[in-house]
Amino acid sequence: MTNRICCIGAGYVGGPSMIVMADSCPGVEINVVDHDQHRIDGWNNLTSSHLPIYEPGLDSIHQRVIGKNLHFTTDVETSIKNADMVFISVNTPTKSYGLGAGEAADLTNIELAARKIAECSKGFTIVVERSTLPVRTGDVLRRIFQKNSNESFSILSNPEFMAEGTAVTDLVHPDRVLIGGHDLDAVEELASIYQHWVPEERILRTNLWSAELSKLTANAFLAQRVSSVNTIAAVCEASGAHIGEVVQAIGGDRRIGSNFLKAGPGFGGSCFRKDILNLIYISDYLGLPEVSAYWRSVIFINDWSRKRISQIVIQKLFSTLRGKKIAILGFAFKPLTNDIRESSAIQICKDLLMEGAFLSIHDPLVSAESVRDALSGSFESSFVCSHDLTSAFMDADAAILLTDWPMYLELDWNLLSKLMRSPAWIFDTRNVLQRGEIESAGINIWTIGYGDIY
Ligand code: NAD
Ligand code: UGA
Repeated sequence: MTNRICCIGAGYVGGPSMIVMADSCPGVEINVVDHDQHRIDGWNNLTSSHLPIYEPGLDSIHQRVIGKNLHFTTDVETSIKNADMVFISVNTPTKSYGLGAGEAADLTNIELAARKIAECSKGFTIVVERSTLPVRTGDVLRRIFQKNSNESFSILSNPEFMAEGTAVTDLVHPDRVLIGGHDLDAVEELASIYQHWVPEERILRTNLWSAELSKLTANAFLAQRVSSVNTIAAVCEASGAHIGEVVQAIGGDRRIGSNFLKAGPGFGGSCFRKDILNLIYISDYLGLPEVSAYWRSVIFINDWSRKRISQIVIQKLFSTLRGKKIAILGFAFKPLTNDIRESSAIQICKDLLMEGAFLSIHDPLVSAESVRDALSGSFESSFVCSHDLTSAFMDADAAILLTDWPMYLELDWNLLSKLMRSPAWIFDTRNVLQRGEIESAGINIWTIGYGDIY
């Protein structure tokens, strides 16, 4: 029976998922470890405003368990030594050097974590892959354990499907929990942990390789829907069809379904791009170039979707942005998070800065420091971060809504139109603003999937 769990990696997945697990399993002692002292200090802070990750609803659960059956520490060795089960939740970015650069997953952190487990574990330990990994990474772990330890291990794959901004709901009420493994007793041991709060029919058991591949596939399928709908948005703008109506019509078909069909400025977030690139690399490695070409096209369309937005803005503003001010509404890759990893806003802002625009960037949660880091090297004196919408709109020629934060749906366009230079433009890349209100305030509006003629 599992009494002591260690989770390596206290990030977006390790932190929230162990907080929820600790809350549902008061009899299990959980240590979340990380070599980043700053992150660990953040999780040990009892003030919700200082948690390292913004996630609605997380702070109250965190306060219930922290210091009781949940501990955050940098003492990796002792935590692994005492654990019956070790989760690996470290980051697995795209490799930026050497063989497979730009596509393959960089497994450095996984290997380091595995070697640490081999060095420190005592007795029998169940090792659970929580990070998103290339199919057959379980083999790599097995070989590291065999060659570096005399203890015994079972390896499971238990990928996480939560999305940022809805992590608490996703973790407390998951659509499914996936456990892959060849040691059926170990699979049941992990299942028994989830049974504390997840209905049995939602706990899926598979072999190890299926679980590893399912995670990459789920992200690739979700991202593919976004790229698909973004191509149709462009066809709508050119043809007079309306994206809202087309999506309603196709989403009403139960075989297609209505989720993940919102046109936008391209998908962002830390995982879609890297996981598709990983799938592309694996497909090529397995001798399946047609498969890799198919998934490469999803990335190609995403890059095009971003470029398309900046090109439309430039064209509408008389093909020159020199001496013009543009307000950027939203920098996070989606609302309800302060995460900007792979946010489409980064590339779009860089394109506009290259054209000579001055940007006033507003986001309710993203810090000015994160924006500056993301845009570093791109004309640093040509943008400001503004937490105040009045100054963001003051003398602006245009505003581009890039993240659909609820606060942008309540803007007073009559008031804002008086601050802007004429002819003023609003570019709604998420199709969330009321066109009528903006038009009656005397502002031109372009909406994704509609264009500028309604
Ligand atoms: P993250 O960068 O937020 O967190 C990873 C943490 O691991 C970091 O704090 C880092 O310091 C720590 N770490 C790395 N190597 C370590 C080591 N050897 N020892 C101790 N600590 C170490 O990453 P994340 O967003 O939590 O993602 C983790 C994994 O989960 C990735 O594979 C990702 O693809 C997957 N995933 C992420 C999400 C998400 O919403 N972010 C959702 C599902 C799956
Ligand atoms: C995504 C998946 O949804 C999670 O299931 C998965 O666990 C996670 O990746 C991961 O592996 O990291 P996340 O990146 O947090 O979660 O956010 P999503 O809600 O999937 O949004 C990703 C991007 O797609 C955002 O930029 C969003 O704006 C965009 N999107 C999403 C659209 O443009 N249209 C849509 O209809 C849906």
